[in-house]
Parts: sequence; C-alpha cells; structure tokens
Amino acid sequence: MNIGNTMFTRTFKPVDFVDIDCRCHKSLQNSFSPFKANVFRMQCGDKNTVVKDYSHANFFIRATICRLLIKREISALRKLQGIQGVPKLYGFYGKYGFAMQTIEGFHPDMAFFSDNPPIAKQLERLVEHFHKQGMTHNDLRLNNMIVDKHGCLFIIDYAATFNNSHKFNFLGKILSSILQITDQAKVIRVLQQSPSFKLTKSQQNILKKAKRLHILTDLWKSIRKKKTQKAKLVM
Ligand SMILES: Nc1ncnc2c1ncn2[C@@H]1O[C@H](COP(=O)(O)OP(=O)(O)O)[C@@H](O)[C@H]1O
Ligand SMILES: [Mg+2]
Repeated sequence: MNIGNTMFTRTFKPVDFVDIDCRCHKSLQNSFSPFKANVFRMQCGDKNTVVKDYSHANFFIRATICRLLIKREISALRKLQGIQGVPKLYGFYGKYGFAMQTIEGFHPDMAFFSDNPPIAKQLERLVEHFHKQGMTHNDLRLNNMIVDKHGCLFIIDYAATFNNSHKFNFLGKILSSILQITDQAKVIRVLQQSPSFKLTKSQQNILKKAKRLHILTDLWKSIRKKKTQKAKLVM
C-alpha cells in the first residue's frame, strides 16, 4: 500500500504513518464518482483517522480536479488548525489522499438544533470564525456537520472552501462577501429552529440577499441545462 507524502512536503510536514492494519479499514463512503473521494476509517498507530482518498479517479481527473480539491481542503484545514470544531489534520495518504482526526458522533438534523439551541450557536460562532480568517466554507449541509459525544459541533468537508487572505485581491474580496452571505443564510436557517429565536434586521437582510443569489444561480443552472440539451440535439 502506498503511504507517504509527495505533493505538499514543502508546505506541510506530515506525521509518520505506521503500517496500516487493513482489518481496521472501514469504508464510510465508497464513491464511484471520479470527483468524490473514497472516505474510510483507518487506525494509524494510536490515531483513529478518517482518510479521504481520490486515487480511484482516472489519471487526467486526478491530476487536475482532484489535485485541486485536496490542495484546497488541506490548506483550509491547515489554516484552521487549533480551532474547536475543526478536525485535526494528520498527514498524507499517498499522492491523492490525506488523513484527519475521526470525529465520533452523528450528523444532526434540523429537529436536533431546535432541541439544542446552544449547538446552533456553536455553528454560528464557528462560521463567524472562518469568515474572520477570510474563509468561506460554501458547503454547510447537515451531512458536513458532526456533533460529538461531548456536545461539540464539528464542521467537516472543506473541499469547497474559498480562501481570500490576500489583502489586495479586490475581486476575491467581492466573491468572498457574496459567499459569506450564503454561509450566513444557512446558519440563520439553523438558528431559526430554536423556539426562542428572533430574527434581527441584519439577519432578515442576509436572508433576502441569499434569496436573490439563489434566483441568480437557478437562472444560471437553467441556462446551462438548455445549452447542454441543445448540444445533445445537434449531436
Ligand atoms: N473527520 C471525520 N470524522 C468522522 N466522519 C467523517 C469525517 N470526515 C468525513 N466523515 C464522514 O464521511 C462522509 C463524507 O466525507 P466528506 O468529507 O463530506 O466527503 P464529500 O466531499 O464526498 O462530501 C461525511 O459525511 C462523514 O459521514
Ligand atoms: Mg460532504
């Protein structure tokens, strides 16, 4: 089995993986899509890790899209290390995979947040923290949240993260503020589950803006759909 580090050696020093006991290998997500990672649990020494691996994709997709996805996810995790609610990054798994801390817990649903408003607040603080660091998560689905046994909320799956840490990247700043709105709108929808929640004026504005953005993205999707249908007809 190929375990090592090749791609990010200069920017990130990985931990040494000891030999892997394959009996501990438990698949969490076996993906046939080339753009989605295979995700599995692995015991590496004394560490309980989750490995996200794209090596099943074909050479071209691996070298382009998967490389980009891993690079983006690793640099986001590196930047956010040490923040409560972000899994620890452990190291690399071959050329197209990496290992992180396993969060033992469950994916919450909306009803869970309505019974546990403090955990919805944790989500709000965590996302605020990301935004302060110039990062947007962009994929705040319930499947990308895990509540552990101590009642701490973790956000996982940083493959869609946008990082705008450059001071003078004005285009990036505009994009980042748009993406922040969609992140914030998702947090507000979670906060709204709490029976005592009252929507403030600024939160109302965020929801309105997010709705407008949603209309734009729907329009864009339908234009693209029509184009591909036309292309199929021509073929
Ligand atoms: N650090 C982790 N701890 C525990 N489970 C995880 C962890 N990372 C991912 N998972 C599980 O694997 C699933 C897929 O991982 P994810 O990073 O969301 O991949 P994808 O990009 O394909 O959505 C998650 O929904 C979750 O159930
Ligand atoms: Mg996910």
